[in-house]
Amino acid sequence: MDASSINKSYVTGGETTHVLRGADLKLDRGEMVMVMGPSGSGKTTLLNLLGGIDRADSGSINVDGVELTRMGRKELSRFRREKVGFIFQFYNLIPTLSAGENVELGMEYTMKGRGEIRRKSARYLEMVGLGDKMNSYPQELSGGEQQRVAIARALAKEPAMILADEPTGNVDEEREGSIMGIMQNLKEELKMTFLIVSHNSRLSRFMDRVVYLRHGKLHDGRG
Ligand SMILES: Nc1ncnc2c1ncn2[C@@H]1O[C@H](COP(=O)(O)OP(=O)(O)O)[C@@H](O)[C@H]1O
Ligand SMILES: [Mg+2]
Repeated sequence: MDASSINKSYVTGGETTHVLRGADLKLDRGEMVMVMGPSGSGKTTLLNLLGGIDRADSGSINVDGVELTRMGRKELSRFRREKVGFIFQFYNLIPTLSAGENVELGMEYTMKGRGEIRRKSARYLEMVGLGDKMNSYPQELSGGEQQRVAIARALAKEPAMILADEPTGNVDEEREGSIMGIMQNLKEELKMTFLIVSHNSRLSRFMDRVVYLRHGKLHDGRG
């Protein structure tokens, strides 16, 4: 993934906010990178652009040789489905589906057959410590458990790239370590690429690199 000179502004009520001002970010395949930055600096905006959820005003986002910024709606939707796993800050679970069904939903648009989808859903829920909550609905789960369902949903897809917004913000420290360990294994074994937004410096030991978003640009190191 190679993003260069990305600009993104929002206009609300006649006021323009320049969120990204020529941001550059290159991710190698199988790399795990953390984005840090103050609240409101544009971290979520950046994930949305890289994942094809929103569009940049200008700049280039190249993924595996294809240019996201030139894709139409249909192509973008296919890109999101096939290549990206999102772990949203506020989970985005479907309330009327059980934990197991929520995880299955993430895989339904991939090539896998019904049986494999079931098996993977069960396996990933077990990996995040929710093997006994397969049939529970989101409202029956704690915030931390819902977050873990969202993590299982994204990972079970085994996509090329995971984009995560404070993925462990609501899980306890011990569970956080085990979830980061799962992600590291996927990175090693399947060469999945991870871009993880977090305020939590405990996560930095799992990372290949930490980048800082400040004044609309990404910087290496704290500078
Ligand atoms: N859809 C939107 N419409 C208008 N302003 C937005 C929108 N999304 C984000 N912003 C603004 O863009 C800035 C960056 O937001 P965001 O990417 O959510 O930051 P972060 O995730 O780093 O806290 C903020 O000032 C926010 O208010
Ligand atoms: Mg955010």
